[in-house]
Amino acid sequence: MLLSAPAGIDDILPEQVARWRFVEDKARELFARYGYSEIRLPLFEDLRVFVHNVGETSDIVEKGMFTFDSGEDHYCLRPEGTAAAVRAYLQHNYPKTRPFQKWHYIGPMFRHERAQKGRKWQFHQLGVEALGASDPLLDAEIIALAGHLFDELGLSGYRTVLNTLGCGDCRDRYRRTLQEQLGPQRGRLCADCQRRMDRNIFRVLDCKQEACQAVSAGTSTLQEALCGNCRSHFEATLQGLRILEIPYEINPRLVRGLDYYTGPVFEFVHPGLGAQSALGAGGRYDNLIAENGGPALGGAGFALGLERILIALEALGQTQALAASPALHAFLVSIGPGTREPLFQLAGKLRRGGLRVDLDHEGRSVKAQMRSANRSAAPFVLVLGCDELAQGQITLKRMDTGQESKIPLDSVLSVLRPGAADLPG
Ligand code: HAM
Repeated sequence: MLLSAPAGIDDILPEQVARWRFVEDKARELFARYGYSEIRLPLFEDLRVFVHNVGETSDIVEKGMFTFDSGEDHYCLRPEGTAAAVRAYLQHNYPKTRPFQKWHYIGPMFRHERAQKGRKWQFHQLGVEALGASDPLLDAEIIALAGHLFDELGLSGYRTVLNTLGCGDCRDRYRRTLQEQLGPQRGRLCADCQRRMDRNIFRVLDCKQEACQAVSAGTSTLQEALCGNCRSHFEATLQGLRILEIPYEINPRLVRGLDYYTGPVFEFVHPGLGAQSALGAGGRYDNLIAENGGPALGGAGFALGLERILIALEALGQTQALAASPALHAFLVSIGPGTREPLFQLAGKLRRGGLRVDLDHEGRSVKAQMRSANRSAAPFVLVLGCDELAQGQITLKRMDTGQESKIPLDSVLSVLRPGAADLPG
């Protein structure tokens, strides 16, 4: 019986990897330009890292985690990176030693959701977290960085949508207002939202059901409940975006599915994505460090979905840049008895000398070896026959002109080395 990977888990095949590397390499380069160093966080953590921080009433924790036990201990595959980054920040004592940290991560995350295009059990995020400061210009920098990456990738047509969720006091005020306004309409809400009303009323605003959206459209927004500090932080963030000339829209009803946010939150949406329209999202989480036993230090970040970036690029027809993978420098062809081992030896020398070369391993005819050479797109083919071997020579064929010349076997490396001045033909 042939086994398959589970429906929500994709293989990333060799012919697809160049597309992934294209995005990852650009992201790494830009993260470094903005001062975000790489952190490599574990793929699984103590379950409490996420239950407590992402929120017990969030979709992720309620039904979206891959959990497992080992003896008395409960673990889960990481559904996101922020809570794990904060755990590492505190565990390694950064608040005392070097409180301001700018980190980035690239890697798989795991959520047990209904799998569909752009929504997977295992997916990949490009994320940044700026820990230890509450400067509104950091919020602006983080939003600008994501936009800069989309622009460098040629991913046009995305929109940057912002809101602010305020601090605990703002949200308490707003919670009371929502309870007053939604209470009489409870019967018109879906069963999930009726439950949310008691457990986390803000999530009613995030419901995708039309009836619930119609009800929540009539409620007042959190903007009206903002305190002076939260209002000025949001204003300063927007001013930072204007300074950097970043276009944005404000959606006063934008809420997030994770509980740790305070202050500005944002989403990047793209029309090429269909139902799962968010390329990425993030925001400020100024209570998270303190809630995990650390000092009162702020933090903000984003995570972008790599699969969704690739879907959007494909929808835009941006696939050429994505297909480029490094071609071989040369393909090696053997003709006749006794030539294969010397050719194999030559391949070893060339590879140690820094060249990308390959040769046949399927016992194919000379004609078939030439077809492989063509398909490899290598600019040179080296052909070794018995006569040439006897003379210590090899035939070098330039694939663009078809021109052939015989060169000494022991000069191949110096002739083909990238940048060599004496290329024949
Ligand atoms: P999130 O909104 O849960 O935020 O996820 C961020 C992005 O990850 C989404 O916008 C989407 O592109 C991608 N994504 C999420 N779930 C899936 C899935 N099942 N399949 C494919 N892609 C998915 C966070 O994770 C926060 N940690 C972001 C953050 C960082 N906030 C502050 N710092």
